[in-house]
Amino acid sequence: MKIEDIKNPKARAWIQEMAEMCRPDEVYVCDGSQGEYDRLMDELVASGLGTRLKKRPKSVLFRSQPSDVARVEDRTYIASQKEEDAGPTNHWIDPAELKKTLTGLYTGCMKGRTMYVIPYSMGPVGSEIGKIGIEITDSAYVVCNMDIMTRVGTRVLDALGAEGEFIPCLHSVGKPLGPGESDGGSWPCAPMEQKYISHFPEERTIWSFGSGYGGNALLGKKCFALRIASVMARDEGWLAEHMLILKLTNPQGRVKYVTGAFPSACGKTNLAMLIPTVPGWKVETVGDDIAWMKFGADGRLYAINPEAGFFGVAPGTNEESNKNAMESIKENTIFTNCGLTEDGDIWWEMIGYPPPGKDIIDWKGNRKPCPPKDKSPKGEEIAHPNARFTAPARQCPCIAPEWEDPKGVPISAFLFGGRRPSTIPLVHQSRDWNHGVFLGSIVGSEVTAAVISDQVGQVRRDPFAMLPFCGYHMGDYFRHWINLGRRTTPDKLPRIFYVNWFRKDGEGNFLWPGYGDNSRVLAWIFDRCDDQDNAVETEIGLMPKPGAINTEGLKVSEQVMKEILSVDREGWKKEIEDIRKNHYPKFGAKLPRELAEELDKLEARLK
Ligand code: OXD
Ligand code: MN
Repeated sequence: MKIEDIKNPKARAWIQEMAEMCRPDEVYVCDGSQGEYDRLMDELVASGLGTRLKKRPKSVLFRSQPSDVARVEDRTYIASQKEEDAGPTNHWIDPAELKKTLTGLYTGCMKGRTMYVIPYSMGPVGSEIGKIGIEITDSAYVVCNMDIMTRVGTRVLDALGAEGEFIPCLHSVGKPLGPGESDGGSWPCAPMEQKYISHFPEERTIWSFGSGYGGNALLGKKCFALRIASVMARDEGWLAEHMLILKLTNPQGRVKYVTGAFPSACGKTNLAMLIPTVPGWKVETVGDDIAWMKFGADGRLYAINPEAGFFGVAPGTNEESNKNAMESIKENTIFTNCGLTEDGDIWWEMIGYPPPGKDIIDWKGNRKPCPPKDKSPKGEEIAHPNARFTAPARQCPCIAPEWEDPKGVPISAFLFGGRRPSTIPLVHQSRDWNHGVFLGSIVGSEVTAAVISDQVGQVRRDPFAMLPFCGYHMGDYFRHWINLGRRTTPDKLPRIFYVNWFRKDGEGNFLWPGYGDNSRVLAWIFDRCDDQDNAVETEIGLMPKPGAINTEGLKVSEQVMKEILSVDREGWKKEIEDIRKNHYPKFGAKLPRELAEELDKLEARLK
């Protein structure tokens, strides 16, 4: 398809303008067909960038540059007109200045390359909750990933029509080619100081330069579905959240839908695909990373998963931790920065078995002796700790039949959680909506490898798991949440819970087995949503009555259950002090009064 065939004049004009600036050798409008995907993948393999996997049909392994392995939060910008609208948790550059710098970088940046135009839909095409984006990129790898992660092609242009609105998303790897030059099989990207993941919230535009990896380059995901969409959601009265969506069915066949916000690499994908250990319960997946939610005519919140695939962290994924994910990646999957075995399969740390054969190729492309177990010392990993799989959601054996329902699914509960080795109990429920918003606002987690940061291993506050993804001032975001609680009657609002699967003992061992056993907590939450008499009031909120969590067959002592289900008064006092001194002051006058009051009330209850 050619630019002239696009019926939307705004889209045509924007694509022409970007082509004039980036000066690609050719422009190609993606139709989203299987043939197109197969052809681009063949080209990527022929160029030496991708390696076909003998063991997995239609699956390809890529290796990135060692400098381009994760989201780059330090190079991610919210360029709102006013600095205070970006707030204290975002990097801000004046939009005019940033456009000038980037125009310099984009000028001629696609020489020697093809400019791909990807019309894509976040959410089922035509869903009232969904939205359309157009990504321009000079990376065929990005096109193939977008093909899996979103709905791409002609059907989207048809839905856009002549008048429809779209989010313009410009992406370049930032490495033009000279005449006759090629990438020579190596991953193209720009040096760190030239990477800019830029958002212009008033213009609702994304300009990403210099990185080809994940959330920096697949612009439908974090850039659009969270940063820009959160701004749209604030303005239009809905929610764009970093949340999984799961369907829970109890032994009587009753269904509830639950969403959960957890910081990156806290096991959202595992929770969304969990296989319950409590007999009779069933979990199915609607989404594993992002939820867009709007109020329905009945006053309830309805959620869609705007994505169409999973971009999951590979290391640690195995038959035990996530059998459904392992099934989902058996074919038609893109792997990035995993190890390559002698027999032509991928491999990663904690995959559940040592690699077969004598040697293995690591994520940097080096041949190494196979490790004897499925672990490697830090810094010597075969797979990068943020190695990823990109797999179609339809391949997941536990995908809920309604995952593509354009109306979305009605939400009964929100979960918040993070990796907290101490203080936060296994589960507690908020007393009411504002207390729930307070719990979301204080989420904290140990930093993991999903992001390049010198804070790996430390606990950082990550309110609503949105710290790196909120496109505006977080104080205003908290206000938006408080206000939404007044939009409907309390009985129609989702109940709010704070969970923590990651409590540790003094020696650093996990106290709770997690994974499938988290269904025991989900079962309690399900019943709480029906206001069952299974909770006790405590200073921090509602907690399970003794015996209310099913522990049959669970290998956790009564003593440990008591420990993870009691109020750690001293720990909470320290928590309050940290929130008061280090966390809430960041938001200045924009911190909603209601949240300051919740903190005071919690302190008073603990006295
Ligand atoms: C992700 C992330 O990739 O949160 O989903 O980093
Ligand atoms: Mn995420």
